Amino acid sequence: MFSKDVYVKRRRDLASKVKSGILLFLGNSEAGINYISNTYRFRQDSSFLYFFGLDEPDLAAVIDIESGEEVLFGNDVTIDDIIWMGPQPLMRDKASLIGVERVKPASELESYIEKARESGRDIHFLPPYRYHNQIWLYNLLGVDFGKQRQMASEDFIKGVVSLREIKDSYEIAEMDKAADIGYAMHYTAMRMAKTGMVEQELVGLMEGIAISHGHMPSFPIILSQNGETLHNHTHHQTLTDGRLLVIDAGAETNMHYASDFTRTIPSGGKFTQKQRDVYNVVSAANDLAMSMVKPGITYTSVHLAAARVLAQGLINLGLMRGDVDEAVAAGAHALFMPHGLGHQMGLDVHDMEDLGENFVGYDEVHKRATQFGLRSLRMGKTLRPGHVITNEPGCYFIPALIEKWKSEGINKEFINFSKLEDYYTFGGIRLEDDILVTETGSRLLGKKRLPNTPDAVEAEMAR
Ligand code: GLY
Ligand code: MN
Ligand code: MN
Repeated sequence: MFSKDVYVKRRRDLASKVKSGILLFLGNSEAGINYISNTYRFRQDSSFLYFFGLDEPDLAAVIDIESGEEVLFGNDVTIDDIIWMGPQPLMRDKASLIGVERVKPASELESYIEKARESGRDIHFLPPYRYHNQIWLYNLLGVDFGKQRQMASEDFIKGVVSLREIKDSYEIAEMDKAADIGYAMHYTAMRMAKTGMVEQELVGLMEGIAISHGHMPSFPIILSQNGETLHNHTHHQTLTDGRLLVIDAGAETNMHYASDFTRTIPSGGKFTQKQRDVYNVVSAANDLAMSMVKPGITYTSVHLAAARVLAQGLINLGLMRGDVDEAVAAGAHALFMPHGLGHQMGLDVHDMEDLGENFVGYDEVHKRATQFGLRSLRMGKTLRPGHVITNEPGCYFIPALIEKWKSEGINKEFINFSKLEDYYTFGGIRLEDDILVTETGSRLLGKKRLPNTPDAVEAEMAR
């Protein structure tokens, strides 16, 4: 964990952003895979981790805005726990590591909240995303599961976002580490991929690297020759010459900071000319976006600039037609890239998505679009120093989507549907890097950038 002062300051800054009431933090609990004591790898709630630093289950905390009192709720281990888990520090020792003075047993949270409610205090809570915490919140506050998201405190959410979205130097150091592990995962997969292997063998190698250098992959690895399925988690196919392999994966460090990279490689080590042509278009969009990232620019404008590169490239290849600006304004390029250019990243790979995407990626000035494609952009607002974002343009040939647009005549003035029939087995290409917005511009996270040209990828695969 970071030093005590870090957590004390974060909580003080947060408390200054909410007018009155009690801030309630629910940490995560263990979750059973197939029976209660056979659990998934424990992952603490990221906001709990950010403000209270303790990386273990069954904790809760409150901050009383008016009195400034902070209380940590949790139980000391019993002799039975010690038999199975070994000796553990006392709750008061854990609290002192994060600068919290008051500790109470977990069972006292209910009466604490009840007393506060009886005296008319507002109880602010964040939207829960795990069933366990939905039940916990229901028991504490009586808010129906279906209403918990809408009843969550906007002031609390906005306060958390405003702090977590601007990364401090010690967080950036962790994110550089996450990026280096992510690099090793991808580089290994690029070097090891061979025709005849099954996708899952590469997934296993990559997960092993994530776990041996950090906590785990930052999300279930996407690795598939059917890259046109954007988040493809099936890994049963045999690598076959002529096909493309999309690999989207990152690491989470032991401090739980994430990386998130995508590279697309030819399964057999050599791109076809048709694959190179599309790769070069995506790579140009990725490079242009990277060159534009700096404080003061909105990420929506970077997304649209990348979209214009994609559309112009596809016009040059004869797959789209017409005026590039008109095509992008109409959202025609979204047939090929139905997702956003990127998202914020930090303790979560899609940072703070549990709090609500619009609170993280948009604000009072910048509102989310409703157009197909652009509406999937998770980060649209103005970039500021300390933001960490992903830059992940892609180009996919999704037969069902192409058929739908064709039969409904959607954007037919901009799309050469007849030429697209040759691309129904192409798959997709995505290239993703992680970028820190600095005071004067931006930089890539991690020591090295993964190969991002067809020649460089082929050279690595041939070594
Ligand atoms: N991990 C999926 C993405 O790149 O956003
Ligand atoms: Mn990704
Ligand atoms: Mn991403």
